[in-house]
Amino acid sequence: MTTNKKECETKKFRKYNIQLEQIQRIHYQDPKVNELIKNNQPVLITNSSLVKSACEKWNTDFFEKYLGKINHTVYLSNDHNFKYFDEKKVLSETNPKGVEFTPKTRRLDMEMSEFIKKVKEWKSGDERLYLQHTLNATMGNAIVADYVKFDWRFAGEIRQKNNWGELTSNVLFISMEGNVTPCHYDEQQNLFAQIQGYKRCILFPPNQFECLYPHPVYHPHDRQSMVDFDKPDYSKYPKFKDVKGCETVIGPGDVLYIPIYWWHHVESSMEGGPTITVNFWYKGSPTTIEYPLKDYQKVSIMRNVEKMLLEVLQDPKEVGPLLRKMVDGRYTNP
Ligand code: FUM
Ligand code: FE
Repeated sequence: MTTNKKECETKKFRKYNIQLEQIQRIHYQDPKVNELIKNNQPVLITNSSLVKSACEKWNTDFFEKYLGKINHTVYLSNDHNFKYFDEKKVLSETNPKGVEFTPKTRRLDMEMSEFIKKVKEWKSGDERLYLQHTLNATMGNAIVADYVKFDWRFAGEIRQKNNWGELTSNVLFISMEGNVTPCHYDEQQNLFAQIQGYKRCILFPPNQFECLYPHPVYHPHDRQSMVDFDKPDYSKYPKFKDVKGCETVIGPGDVLYIPIYWWHHVESSMEGGPTITVNFWYKGSPTTIEYPLKDYQKVSIMRNVEKMLLEVLQDPKEVGPLLRKMVDGRYTNP
């Protein structure tokens, strides 16, 4: 089972004023798939059986029947954006080194049956919901039976050919129509497998760093873009006008490779009911330094410089001014 381009085009998604090319859709047996993965380039892999066992069965009725009584992590938001934040970086009594921050989403543990009831009864003005929970053995025999039938050989071959590290987790995403995960990057390789419904994924390479204005590393929104794609503030973020990316729509059976350190903005179709996705997160390959450095390695270096400065300066407010002092008038006007 897989979707074709025409089907994808008919789905309803938000409009953004961004220059975007189409990500290539390639059959899983075509050697071009691995050429792209090897070069850390995104590709939409079609017709694989990676999550076929789930595509045939997993929907909200199935989850309600088999997962009704287990608690799951659910995020709630007053609007369609679910911008991730790291709770460990928020100021609190137990974390005096954190930064002051008012989150726009909240996290709740909820039984699947309660989540599904809320989604079914949702009306405009209610808080939106997004379930994001790591798959594990406690999820019950019915889910585990389908999970073991995932095409692990296919995933394992990609991992092995590209020298990726271990599989760290499979996160199950159950999203209401129209939810958005705003633009961010992750520090892992991702095979993003669609099970139900349609998602539009907009990706940007690591070299678009300056156009996307990431929050500082110490900030709870570390790895997230500061730009609000719904209404970009071009006076604050002028280079966002120049950002160049690529996009695709994924449907049941499709697997999108999201390369490590690539920015991604993910939105569920505004029609067609809840969407279901499972990701496969793998550690990147052990770093062998070869020159010239790759763009994602430069992002990693910038992260380390920021982390080191914070450690020695002790105060997040001093990091930016020190970096500016180093560069302004010296590297800016050589
Ligand atoms: O909403 C999402 O499906 C986000 C996925 C991701 O960031 O990997
Ligand atoms: Fe992500």
